[in-house]
Amino acid sequence: MNKVIVPGTFDPITNGHLDIIERAAKLYDQVIVAIAKSAGKNPLFSLEERAELAKDSCSYLKNVEVKTFEGLLVNFAKENDAHIVVKGLRIVSDFEYEFQMAGLNRKLYPEFETLFMMSSHEYMHLSSSQIRELAQMGGEYEELVPECVAKALKNL
Ligand code: COA
Repeated sequence: MNKVIVPGTFDPITNGHLDIIERAAKLYDQVIVAIAKSAGKNPLFSLEERAELAKDSCSYLKNVEVKTFEGLLVNFAKENDAHIVVKGLRIVSDFEYEFQMAGLNRKLYPEFETLFMMSSHEYMHLSSSQIRELAQMGGEYEELVPECVAKALKNL
């Protein structure tokens, strides 16, 4: 069975993330959405809330499972018997950072592979921090996130 990990902070999950997860789920037998604690980023939603929102958003995808992790991504991959990670590339500026991260992960775990998928055109400029800002400043974001996320942002 081929299995891949789609990792991230998902604070909160957006339609841009979902685009990548959905496309990965068509290509692979099993997809694990791995939600990092990312304490250093001081997330708006707790790890449990981010996981619940991701589970709810992905519930229509039967081969997608949501898990949380702390620490190194390579250790999470080993524990889950997986060695392929799929990440979305949006804008050119994503590339340098992703390139470094892929190289470091490979050094830590030589079998580790990072595959990049180009974001669909409509999500090229979307990010979770933009969504948080729109929500906090009264902007419109409903079409950019799953329904459960829009509800959670309204209840903040
Ligand atoms: N669509 C829309 N937005 C996307 C996206 C997509 N397909 N993919 C990424 N993004 C956005 C996110 O919304 C986020 O936006 P924000 O910063 O404005 O909130 C931004 O891209 C960064 O994504 P994020 O998931 O926070 O972080 P990351 O790309 O830095 O990677 C981990 C997160 C969990 C994969 C990474 O930090 C990690 O591996 N952590 C574990 C520790 C570790 O192993 N470190 C060593 C590796 S070098």
